[in-house]
Amino acid sequence: MSRAPTDAQALVPEFEAPEFLRKKCDQMQADAPYFGLGFRKARLDPEVHERLLAHFRANIEYFRAEGVIDEIGTAAKGNIATLLFEDEGFNARLAEDLRPLHEAWAGRPLVLSHCYGIRCYQRGTFLYNHVDRQPHFISSTICVDHVLKSPWPLHIESVDGEVSQVNMEPGEFIFYEGTRLVHGRPYPLDGDYYAGIFVHYYPADRSIVTTDK
Ligand SMILES: [Fe+2]
Repeated sequence: MSRAPTDAQALVPEFEAPEFLRKKCDQMQADAPYFGLGFRKARLDPEVHERLLAHFRANIEYFRAEGVIDEIGTAAKGNIATLLFEDEGFNARLAEDLRPLHEAWAGRPLVLSHCYGIRCYQRGTFLYNHVDRQPHFISSTICVDHVLKSPWPLHIESVDGEVSQVNMEPGEFIFYEGTRLVHGRPYPLDGDYYAGIFVHYYPADRSIVTTDK
């Protein structure tokens, strides 16, 4: 398994989601509002990234295999696809600390929808293209750490269908409208691991969500 580190090559998904997931994605996307934001790559405050790295390293032995997630698979038969570590207090504080950044990007007050713990994708893992469930309208995918042999970019599609491949180094993250923009990592992870954490918010004014479609 090798992949040239060029965005042009990475533009071809190696795994297409099965039909039931494509239908689910189409329905969910049709129901989602669009705030005109799309996505944008940014860099964490170094102090926040250090906190995340320390948390990841201090708890590495407590990561546990996740159950089946339809959107996640592995090309490495017999391998565990993802490991997860959840510390509710840590996650809530992180999400609260990052809320103002997301409010500035979204241009409106936000409420935390959810912050999952650090997910550690393993060798061979891929993530079918999908949209996130509501109310994860305003989100970020944050790169905590990785050891990769080849790029493992986020594939993300604008509402006009324009495809981008965005690589993230540890400490970088991508703001994105997860319920509306199709995204995934539809190529097997070539390397040891990729550790990420996700924060999701929704507008404090819920009427925006129900009328701005
Ligand atoms: Fe997602």
